[in-house]
Amino acid sequence: MTIQTVGVVGCGQMGSGIAEVVARSGYRVIVREVNDALLERGQQRIRASLERAVKKGKLSQADADAVWERLTFTTTLDEMRACDLVIEAIVENKEAKQELFAALDTITPPHAILASNTSSISITAIAAATSEARRPRVLGMHFFNPVPVMPLLELVRGLETAEETLATARAFGESLGKTIIVAKDNPGFIVNLLLVPYLLDAIRWLEYGLATREDIDTGVKLGLNHPMGPYELSDFIGLDTLLFIADAMYDEFRDPRYAAPPLLRRMVAAGHLGRKSGRGFYEYQR
Ligand code: 3HC
Repeated sequence: MTIQTVGVVGCGQMGSGIAEVVARSGYRVIVREVNDALLERGQQRIRASLERAVKKGKLSQADADAVWERLTFTTTLDEMRACDLVIEAIVENKEAKQELFAALDTITPPHAILASNTSSISITAIAAATSEARRPRVLGMHFFNPVPVMPLLELVRGLETAEETLATARAFGESLGKTIIVAKDNPGFIVNLLLVPYLLDAIRWLEYGLATREDIDTGVKLGLNHPMGPYELSDFIGLDTLLFIADAMYDEFRDPRYAAPPLLRRMVAAGHLGRKSGRGFYEYQR
């Protein structure tokens, strides 16, 4: 199956990164947000990222203009009818995703593949909101933030995902320049399954008073050569997102490794969500 037109539903941090990378790889992209204000913010994010690439000499102005030409922005979900593949990157809420997939199932052509960028919600549960004929064409396509920089794409095979769908998604992901890994449909898939308990542990050790957050972050960065320490990375991911993934894992596995530490829960309750709110383990200019 040939993919020519790709829909991206949701143009937040992840959706805008996905739309940019897909358009930069030569596909036509239709981006949908729920209202004009969010659409405008998403557009600005993509424009700023393209401008940065031009300034850094990674992209010519002509190529950036061509990428922009391939992008269409809309608030109308019906426009997804032109898509061979739709990638969903909306809020991490099972009911919202199921509602969207049920609608996409009726709007998109029968051959279209529907993918979710979820980090923690079951692909099988999302696919269950679609018709029996569509379910083999539903899978997880989990990108990493910042999407234009991170070289990995994790594909997630739901219970009913067809081999052909997986093969098409693999070829598509490789055409974006990403390296593909394939995971079973369990909360956290591969990467978050290993990452989240480590971040939760780091928060527990901070609560215990092991060392300062700066020293723990420096230890991980310089001792392990990670680009970010655990608190910097938690702030970068978003503490609400981290808590959501941890809770989903704990619900599934009932293992204390995945139990969110009280400090994380309190920070989220206080609105200290990390970079996006200007304050998390560290403070940020907004
Ligand atoms: N969009 C496009 N390019 C970006 C970017 C963005 N948002 N942010 C950074 N870049 C590019 C820069 O242009 C620069 O490119 P160059 O080296 O070719 O000039 C390069 O990335 C490095 O950027 P900077 O020099 O500005 O900053 P850093 O060296 O501090 O790198 C970072 C920033 C790439 C974010 C790095 O700190 C990093 O890799 N951090 C870890 C990120 C990570 O682990 N992400 C995964 C999170 S988990 C996840 O997403 C899963 C989810 O389910 C939770």
